[in-house]
Amino acid sequence: MGPPGSGKGTRAKIIGKMYDIPVITTGDMLREAVSEGTELGKQAEGYMKKGELVRDDIVIGIVEERMGKSDLDRGFILDGFPRSVRQAEALDRILNKLETMIDTVLYIDAKPETILERLSLRRSCSNCGAIYHLIYKPPENEGACNECGGELFHRDDDREEIILHRFEVYEKQTYPILERYENRGKVQRMDGEINIDEISDEVERILGPP
Ligand code: AP5
Repeated sequence: MGPPGSGKGTRAKIIGKMYDIPVITTGDMLREAVSEGTELGKQAEGYMKKGELVRDDIVIGIVEERMGKSDLDRGFILDGFPRSVRQAEALDRILNKLETMIDTVLYIDAKPETILERLSLRRSCSNCGAIYHLIYKPPENEGACNECGGELFHRDDDREEIILHRFEVYEKQTYPILERYENRGKVQRMDGEINIDEISDEVERILGPP
């Protein structure tokens, strides 16, 4: 968990590789549906463009479907879910059904000014979802993904006025559910200001060796 642009996706991908576990990223799943023009994408697009949360029932449905697949036995990481009280309640229900539980909630703290600078220079791969930053993690070839050669794009919702609205939505709807996990003793804080190449050491300190 963490505010928009705090580094959730970057960390989730690093953790997924370190521990060789699937990463379930609701933002990527929704963006893929929008770019493919599926029914789900059509329903989600308007909310995403405005920086609003997509309706709970839509997001819960895609997460529940994804978590029903058979590749989660060794663990998984959720990135961008849950983001509202209803989603957190649904996650409890889904985990109960799967007879599993969340071990740790990683909360990333980063200053708003750091985040604004990061999001204005973020580029994402349209093919594999890899995340770049033009200064802190530039691609080797301009406009192309290092991992798959896919085209890099600047997200529609990374415009300043939409970013500011995403912050408000986060404060109002998502931040309150952190308390739920604090009360269960699950939350570990991560320093969102450290360099990208320091992240894996911090992850290992918190989660233990891969
Ligand atoms: P989503 O894609 O989840 O967006 P977000 O939460 O706003 O977070 P971001 O993806 O913008 O940032 P991040 O924290 O992952 O940071 P990143 O690692 O990219 O959601 C988008 C939309 O989809 C929502 O607005 C909503 O409409 C919908 N949605 C998604 N999930 C939903 C849900 N559960 N319910 C309802 N609606 C949902 O890093 C940012 C930049 O900084 C990158 O350029 C990166 O390279 C750079 N960077 C990262 N870490 C560092 C570092 N340590 N040092 C320097 N640069 C860094």
